[in-house]
Amino acid sequence: MSPESSSHPASRVPEQAAGLVAARRPPVRVITVTSGKGGVGKTNVSVNLGVALAAAGRKPLLLDADLGLANVDVMLGLSAERTLADVMAGRCGLADTILEGPHGLGIVPASSGKRHMAELTPAEHVGLIRAFSEIDRPLDTMLVDTAAGVTDSVLTFCQAAQDVIVVVCDEPASITDAYALIKVLSRERGVNRVQVLTNQVGSPQEGRALYEKLARVSDKFLDVTLAYLGMVPHDEYLRRAVQRQLPVTVAYPSSPSARAFRELAGRIERWQPPAAARGHLEFFVERMIDAGGMAA
Ligand SMILES: Nc1ncnc2c1ncn2[C@@H]1O[C@H](COP(=O)(O)OP(=O)(O)OP(=O)(O)O)[C@@H](O)[C@H]1O
Ligand SMILES: [Mg+2]
Repeated sequence: MSPESSSHPASRVPEQAAGLVAARRPPVRVITVTSGKGGVGKTNVSVNLGVALAAAGRKPLLLDADLGLANVDVMLGLSAERTLADVMAGRCGLADTILEGPHGLGIVPASSGKRHMAELTPAEHVGLIRAFSEIDRPLDTMLVDTAAGVTDSVLTFCQAAQDVIVVVCDEPASITDAYALIKVLSRERGVNRVQVLTNQVGSPQEGRALYEKLARVSDKFLDVTLAYLGMVPHDEYLRRAVQRQLPVTVAYPSSPSARAFRELAGRIERWQPPAAARGHLEFFVERMIDAGGMAA
């Protein structure tokens, strides 16, 4: 390495003093994974996309935002010493809660059975979302696994992300609840673009048909653009992995669902990084402003 190289340790010191190193932190793409109906596979989608992105060399963080009934740590066979409940109570910082998952996937665990966590006030949501700005580890993507439904908390985590993935299964209630959620997101929270992931489907054709069913009604009645992210097949290996408290991408990497997760992660990797802050409550907003982006 030449002495003039800009990555030479000595040449970084004045920049650090001027705070320029922090200003160079790259933008983080935040993707919230949600659903109308519960039990459709959000946590498996979030965990396995996180693992697949980490395995591909990205630097993802997974936030368990099912604040009342957290289970990302359970699904990964990890035990959380400190959770978001400790952060909210001022007992520790956000960085102190982070667990290391497969391939270096960072996990911010939530608590289970603490009712006040499931009913945070708007000011507490703002405080929590802003607290992420202090995280100092290498980071380029954050996945946010939410609870089901249209609570204020779920809607806020969707609004504060650049992308929303709605997980849907081929069941009437899952489809109507997904539609209801998309309607509330677009009408009340200004979300104008939603990615749809079909889970537990029998074939790619079935997944695509399910997406089109949802897109047809949304196009007709809502001011929102739906895009099809893709499908994850129904897979007994995934159930087995859940029993073993391992992500299917780790326990059975050549199973049909693990392959699908890797393919979907590859699609997500090709998305452009977020370009501009949109002027409302947003995760990591200062990194976008640092990178020179403000919405017109
Ligand atoms: N692709 C799949 N193939 C087979 N079973 C699946 C698949 N996806 C999810 N499941 C089953 O559905 C269960 C629920 O999945 P998961 O916990 O990820 O859903 P969720 O949407 O996060 O639920 P909640 O709304 O309670 O948070 C899993 O434990 C598994 O048994
Ligand atoms: Mg879940």
